[in-house]
Amino acid sequence: MSLSLEFKTKLLEKEDELHLRALFSSLDERTAEYYGRFDNLINNAKEIARKIINDRYEIGVLMTINGMPIGYAHLYLSQKESRKHSAGFGMVIAPRFQGMGLGKKLIKEIFSLARYWNIKKIWLHVYDFNERAFKLYKKTGFKKVGTFYKEEFKLGKYRDIIVMEKLV
Ligand SMILES: CC(C)(COP(=O)(O)OP(=O)(O)OC[C@H]1O[C@@H](n2cnc3c(N)ncnc32)[C@H](O)[C@@H]1OP(=O)(O)O)[C@@H](O)C(=O)NCCC(=O)NCCS
Repeated sequence: MSLSLEFKTKLLEKEDELHLRALFSSLDERTAEYYGRFDNLINNAKEIARKIINDRYEIGVLMTINGMPIGYAHLYLSQKESRKHSAGFGMVIAPRFQGMGLGKKLIKEIFSLARYWNIKKIWLHVYDFNERAFKLYKKTGFKKVGTFYKEEFKLGKYRDIIVMEKLV
């Protein structure tokens, strides 16, 4: 289902620290688990938001509706000169705004940003159980390039992590 919600996106800047923190604090456990980027994201929202804001290798995009932060996506640049064209990627949409087409919109912003930064390749990790994210990534042109089997112990089981990439 796709609704036309009045969203805005902006590049993450120092002044957005509280917005990012508010977004992470507003997630539910399931969303934080599926996002999978940090342990205890909800409880450590303050420290994690600060770390991201001060990380010069991270290019972030914040999505808001009526000034309220509802999504975040990032490209993570390599510190190696020879890998500058390749960036890691991840995203999260706040629980009550999932499944409305906003993730797809946010990912398109990331693709334009990647082109602007001369990034040629975006790669990501997604859990084997994250059907929604996997579908979204396939739809937006990512290809599965491999699997890390039993890479993480999560939700009571060893989980596989799927690796995907897209040339932009
Ligand atoms: C994954 C996530 C970013 C996707 O954003 P979203 O706004 O919910 O997704 P969209 O509404 O844009 O849907 C995009 C596609 O996902 C798929 N999708 C949406 N809802 C789905 C559902 N309930 N089940 C399966 N697939 C679904 C569809 O293919 C959809 O495309 P379509 O609308 O053309 O059919 C978001 O759900 C989220 O934050 N999830 C928790 C954190 C997470 O998993 N992050 C990714 C880590 S790798």
